Amino acid sequence: MTPTLRDMAMTVLTTADPIEKTALSREYAQVWRDARAAGRDIPLGTAQPPDYPARPSQPELLPPRDVPMRKPGTPEGRIAMLHAIAHIELNAVDLHWDVIARFGDVDFPMGFYDDWVQAADDESKHFSLMEACLRGHGSHYGALPAHAGMWVSAVDTKDDIMGRLAVVPMVLEARGLDVTPGMIGLFKQAKDADAVAALEVIYAEEVAHVAYGSRWFHFLCGRNNLDPTPTFHALVRKYFHAALKPPFNEEKRAEAGIAPDFYWPLVEDTAR
Ligand SMILES: [Fe+2]
Ligand SMILES: [Fe+2]
Repeated sequence: MTPTLRDMAMTVLTTADPIEKTALSREYAQVWRDARAAGRDIPLGTAQPPDYPARPSQPELLPPRDVPMRKPGTPEGRIAMLHAIAHIELNAVDLHWDVIARFGDVDFPMGFYDDWVQAADDESKHFSLMEACLRGHGSHYGALPAHAGMWVSAVDTKDDIMGRLAVVPMVLEARGLDVTPGMIGLFKQAKDADAVAALEVIYAEEVAHVAYGSRWFHFLCGRNNLDPTPTFHALVRKYFHAALKPPFNEEKRAEAGIAPDFYWPLVEDTAR
């Protein structure tokens, strides 16, 4: 019997090895797209995803303050940066499959699953790109300690799809749009053409992920008769435990459907 979409999501979430996890993720995305193109939809099914996805024994996960800071101007600093991005991408793979698996009670049109499967596929490719860059520098994912806090937003919003959309694509992935051009500049300066090319792919594709978040957030606001801007502010204040930090990439945020009145009021908002 063909697995349902949520069976596929569960297999990705419960696979610990990152290479295997991302390969499965890409394979399932292709299965989904092929079925959709052929006009035979894969059933969504049901699932009870774990609170935490399976992870490899390495890297060691440390509280953010214990992750050693390295100067970005040094080769070690750049390897640490690639490692940190690989870690973000691996979490992003699970974050997308987790949404697919978890929120079965929300009746989304099929286009929602198209977007989430596509983003999961992109994140898997992003992880592979970062892993290839690390290998090119004689390192690999798992060689350095990584941030343990990456799954906090997922746990906090495990019962709230609108909170999840507000915090993950519309705050965290949008933050990626703000900081990626600076990172590309750093690798350009270091004449690391492979890293520059990889980060440019990531930068271009992340705009779409933020746009998916914004699109479906607005869809749910419309369905529930909610005003999107104050609803977004209330959810970010509830689930995201820090102020938003300028400078913002206003151009790419706009391209992704995030208006300035979404994020500016959340700057220096310390009443949390
Ligand atoms: Fe990504
Ligand atoms: Fe993303």
